[in-house]
Amino acid sequence: MKEFSALEINGLRKNILQQDEWKCLFSGVTARLTEPSIIALLGLSGQGKSTLLRIIGMLDAADEGTIQYEGRLASEWSPQAWRKKVCYVAQHAVMLEGSVEHNLQTVSLLHRTPFNESLAAELLRDVGLDYLDWNKKASDLSGGEKQRLALVRSLLMKPQILLLDEITASLDLQSKQSVEQLLKLWHSKEGTSMIWVTHDLEQARYTSQRIWFMANHTLLEDRSTKDFFERPDSEIGRQFLQVSKGDEGVSDE
Ligand SMILES: Nc1ncnc2c1ncn2[C@@H]1O[C@H](COP(=O)(O)OP(=O)(O)OP(=O)(O)O)[C@@H](O)[C@H]1O
Ligand SMILES: [Mg+2]
Repeated sequence: MKEFSALEINGLRKNILQQDEWKCLFSGVTARLTEPSIIALLGLSGQGKSTLLRIIGMLDAADEGTIQYEGRLASEWSPQAWRKKVCYVAQHAVMLEGSVEHNLQTVSLLHRTPFNESLAAELLRDVGLDYLDWNKKASDLSGGEKQRLALVRSLLMKPQILLLDEITASLDLQSKQSVEQLLKLWHSKEGTSMIWVTHDLEQARYTSQRIWFMANHTLLEDRSTKDFFERPDSEIGRQFLQVSKGDEGVSDE
């Protein structure tokens, strides 16, 4: 297991242009990852979860605030070095040109490290893609296959922090559960932290130790998963759980 380094997010603000006017999407977003953990990032659609994740992954810029990793500000890192450690996995996976194998090898080509073919095969098996022909054009895969291939591609890089953006959204139940199990196992084996955006409350409850809940244009709650589901601090948190449970058809325990 790798030595743990803290991620510190301080006072992040993001403004967006809406109908020719600058509006605050979120501000005062402050949080720390002080031990290897799986965080579920929850909130209604449009709160800025993906935007926050992309800022943490250095794929978007904040208007205010700072992020530090390993005690150094993000601005002191090259984006490439940062993204090797803090890796964003998108909801709609982007495949590189060429074959499945080429996509799997990208990371080693990029970082000039040997390609770990047996780990790639093992991970593909774990996410239910053992049947995949490695010579197939990656752009011809289905949405769910692309999502899982993108995840495997990111795991092969062995980042310290994975930023997961609704990565099981287009998966059938069995594949979704395989991915959840793999990521939980990977977390305990490798010590990789995960900030995992999901609208699936059962998934959040099953996989995460902490909840970051976005509402009211900020990160409103940062609590243990158990506490959040038992007693959200805010009225808006309570409403969110009620409405989301209704959506999922999940009844109170
Ligand atoms: N660069 C940008 N310029 C203008 N608007 C933006 C920009 N980035 C994000 N937005 C807007 O900010 C809002 C939040 O977007 P975001 O995708 O981060 O929300 P989300 O919480 O991930 O929602 P969902 O749960 O639906 O995925 C959206 O209305 C989006 O259109
Ligand atoms: Mg989103």
